[in-house]
Amino acid sequence: MELIVAKGREDLVKARRGGAVALVPTMGALHEGHRSLIRQARVRADQVVVSIFVNPLQFGPSEDFSRYPRTFDADLDVCRAEGVDVVFHPDAEEMYAADRQVSVSAGHMGSIVEGAFRPGHFDGVLTVVLKLFNLVQPDLAVFGQKDAQQLALIRRMVADLDLPIEILGAPTVREPDGLALSSRNRYLSDDDRQVALALSRALRAGAAELTPARVRAVAQEVLDAAGPRLATDYLALVDPATFAEVDESYAGMAVLAVAATVGTTRLIDNVTLTLNPS
Ligand code: PAF
Repeated sequence: MELIVAKGREDLVKARRGGAVALVPTMGALHEGHRSLIRQARVRADQVVVSIFVNPLQFGPSEDFSRYPRTFDADLDVCRAEGVDVVFHPDAEEMYAADRQVSVSAGHMGSIVEGAFRPGHFDGVLTVVLKLFNLVQPDLAVFGQKDAQQLALIRRMVADLDLPIEILGAPTVREPDGLALSSRNRYLSDDDRQVALALSRALRAGAAELTPARVRAVAQEVLDAAGPRLATDYLALVDPATFAEVDESYAGMAVLAVAATVGTTRLIDNVTLTLNPS
């Protein structure tokens, strides 16, 4: 089957065949992590749609919207190689009417942890994801666990707004040295990359501990040891469903999340761990 490139709603309707549809929303610059999302979608659906849209609503005024990598031709090659059926690649004008008024609010959960450093970011993410859901009308959608708060908020939106879509989370794909794959890794110099390894090292060290206090202390120690070239925004140990910080008595699954800037590149990463096991 030849890959179809759809620009708008009508193209999507025309491309529709029978059977289950899976959507993999992306901003392009596809890497091995996206390939694993696509493969997960492929296993579960008859038709796989990958959206490629660098969403202006989720970038703050001082963030990297204009320099975000745009590699459309290479992305199409990846989609062809992975057997994707449809690439949805709308223009900003197709997605956002000039006089648009209504958007999705991510609520309190969108204003904590990552949201505290990127005001409005999750409102922008949920708004575009809801629009993509309405345009593509998938039965299921696949998102990476690497953006754990985004994934938790999308699950929340689906529950709160009664959206008939199954959400699948796919594990983070890492380089052999532990660095989580990200479209932004291409900005890292060789030296930056060495410094950036402190993120996954800190998470691994923290995840080997059992109590919240120890997890935080051990992970923080590793981040501190990376020196001043690593500017940490936060190290957070949170409930995976709410992203509220856990207290010392918390037992069960938690997410240890970190965000830091190396050079001019801001990176995020996280791991899931079990606290105070009985
Ligand atoms: O994770 C991303 O790449 C983006 O936040 C998403 C989900 C495609 C929305 O623009």
